[in-house]
Amino acid sequence: MVDVTCMIRDEFFDSATVEGMLAAPGVKWHRYPPDVIPLWLADVDFPIAPEIKRALINAVQDEDLFYSDDTKTRELLAEKVRRKNGLDVKAENIMITQGVLPAMWLALQYACKPGDEVIVTDPMYYPFYTAVDVTHTKPVRWPLEMEEGYRFDIERLKELVTRRTKLIFVCNPHNPCGRVMTREELKGIADIAVDRRIMVMVDELWEEIVFDGREHITLASLSPEIEDLTITSWGFSKAYGVAGLQLGYLSAPKDVVDDLRKISRGVLRGASTLARAAVPAMLSKDLGWYREGLMRHLHMIRDLCERRFKELPGVTCPKLEGTYLMFPKFNYGMSSSQLHKYMLEEAKLAFSPGSEFGYKGEGHLRMCIATSTAIINEVFERMERALSKL
Ligand SMILES: Cc1ncc(COP(=O)(O)O)c(C=O)c1O
Repeated sequence: MVDVTCMIRDEFFDSATVEGMLAAPGVKWHRYPPDVIPLWLADVDFPIAPEIKRALINAVQDEDLFYSDDTKTRELLAEKVRRKNGLDVKAENIMITQGVLPAMWLALQYACKPGDEVIVTDPMYYPFYTAVDVTHTKPVRWPLEMEEGYRFDIERLKELVTRRTKLIFVCNPHNPCGRVMTREELKGIADIAVDRRIMVMVDELWEEIVFDGREHITLASLSPEIEDLTITSWGFSKAYGVAGLQLGYLSAPKDVVDDLRKISRGVLRGASTLARAAVPAMLSKDLGWYREGLMRHLHMIRDLCERRFKELPGVTCPKLEGTYLMFPKFNYGMSSSQLHKYMLEEAKLAFSPGSEFGYKGEGHLRMCIATSTAIINEVFERMERALSKL
């Protein structure tokens, strides 16, 4: 028997059209002219779950706009971190942040003085480099090689650690490499950090977006020793398409969280009451249909993209294990910025140049695939035509 509910719900994720997206708000579809399909930003072309909308509308109707205490939200988040991430935390271990980005800056402020060394993978989501830059710390790049399947080479990491290393900065699942770290890789990082007493900051924003039944493992859950040295951050923007709520949270040992609060007093004020009003809905079992539907759709889109990339000559695209960001390499003797310009002008497609993500991103383009089958097919038609002219 056909599962009608399932069909209706799958259409929910496959409904984006160019016209519809151009009529909707959000920077993704409005940065470039309307004849350009945007693939540059990690934002989804899916509707918001009705449960989330209802929670936001209810908060406005209840006039939940006074000064308010965030303890209840932190208790809910602590419960989620215990259940999903396996950390034995309470509300006092949780700090709510305005999205995930402030957590990077906070971790650097906490762990480093100007001039200290911070290990960052290359490629890496570029705001990590920006955070290193603005805190006048020194990035030490830990290269990830596409030819090695972007494995996290622990021997290489060992060689990079010096007396001045104060922080290891990782992202799992990884933007832009699309890797989900294995237990062995995580253990390798944890062993080095514990052995050398180095703090670790892990961005696990993409924890929900993992493919092929892979397990997302929270680094800090590996042992009490690594938990003591780790700041972990999460958010809602990627899984629920609510980047505009600017809602993130981190977990760390209580003394660390107390210091993070001191460092940021008067600068960071957590999240708004409206953003917090959506948290119970987003953590609820009632959104199971959304999480399952999202991953079913993303599996289908990922497989479609992989099939179509295989048909394109001169393009190498590693298998996507996590995130909805693909990071193909174009072997056409062009730099990322040349490719970006060519695709924009010739194919009317806007990617992110791979070089934005580090030296190892040169020759790559990053592509957000969180859209409909129809749009993805149109993207590949345009890409194919443009590449055939080279
Ligand atoms: C790895 C990673 N961390 C942080 C962010 C920023 O997330 P937010 O907008 O929720 O702060 C992104 C956004 O794409 C990301 O990919």
